[in-house]
Amino acid sequence: ARKIIIDTDPGQDDAVAILMALASPELEVLGVVAVAGNVPLALTEKNVRKTLELAGRTDVPVFAGCDRPLVRPLVTAEYVHGKTGLDGPDLPEPEMPLQAKHGVDFIIDTLRAARDDGITLCALGPLTNIATALQRAPDIAPRIREIVSMGGGLFEGGNTTPAAEFNIHVDPQAARIVFRCGRPVTLIPLDLTHHCLTTAKRIERFRRMGTRTGTATAALLDFFERFDEHKYGTDGGPLHDPNVIAWLLKPELYSGRMINVEVECASELTMGMTVADWWGVTGRPANVHYLRWVDDEGFYALLTERIARLP
Ligand code: BDR
Ligand code: CA
Repeated sequence: ARKIIIDTDPGQDDAVAILMALASPELEVLGVVAVAGNVPLALTEKNVRKTLELAGRTDVPVFAGCDRPLVRPLVTAEYVHGKTGLDGPDLPEPEMPLQAKHGVDFIIDTLRAARDDGITLCALGPLTNIATALQRAPDIAPRIREIVSMGGGLFEGGNTTPAAEFNIHVDPQAARIVFRCGRPVTLIPLDLTHHCLTTAKRIERFRRMGTRTGTATAALLDFFERFDEHKYGTDGGPLHDPNVIAWLLKPELYSGRMINVEVECASELTMGMTVADWWGVTGRPANVHYLRWVDDEGFYALLTERIARLP
């Protein structure tokens, strides 16, 4: 199985992505590291533990990473995800422990101990933990097989400011470090996730599974949709983070290009914008595999099939 570390800020869509990974034998989840993002760190790490307990996977270790972005003050998104970050389903308070080790140390130590075929980092939130690990321990870079990050966008504009997507907007300096790290970076931008709509019909399939995870997934997506559906005027809201996992499982669902992507870190107006050179006009070397299109029916079929495997 392909070894992955999930770095995340749950978030309903983060939770669904974690569930999808846990249900997939092609992937071995070495650990889940929380970062501050959608809500503060004390809540995101707790939400990770709630999600693992829901899946019955308390064997996977959970770590808390950075509680704020590298440079900028933390911006959260309770207006999207609710007060807890995981509003919607009625999940019990978690009992499984949080590991004592700092999440960034876990990333560094795990990569240092890895074999040559490396470890894939799945980034579902701001890139603070991964950038901190790269800065503190540059020797880990060769052990990274691929960094798959949900973030950014070009053609669809931003969802947090007109120019910026949430994950990149929260920590643009971290995104810049990661995009320039020299290892393969695959980006899942809004251009793609905005075509992965949580329609009523798709949510219904989870509810009808009759399992606790199916029911919780429906409740997570119902809550998440409420905000985004009104915002975008579509049937259902966009589903972002599970695409990171689906890309690893079925890359044939996706298409895009190798392009140069730089991150705006200075202008207040466009802070966190992913300046994606889709037409190759700059001559700057390609550093990002920018996925632009997804087979959304194929994506939902895969997600549904995986969630159905959980208790
Ligand atoms: C991203 O921001 C968060 O609100 C979601 O979990 C996703 O990672 C979308 O912009
Ligand atoms: Ca997220």
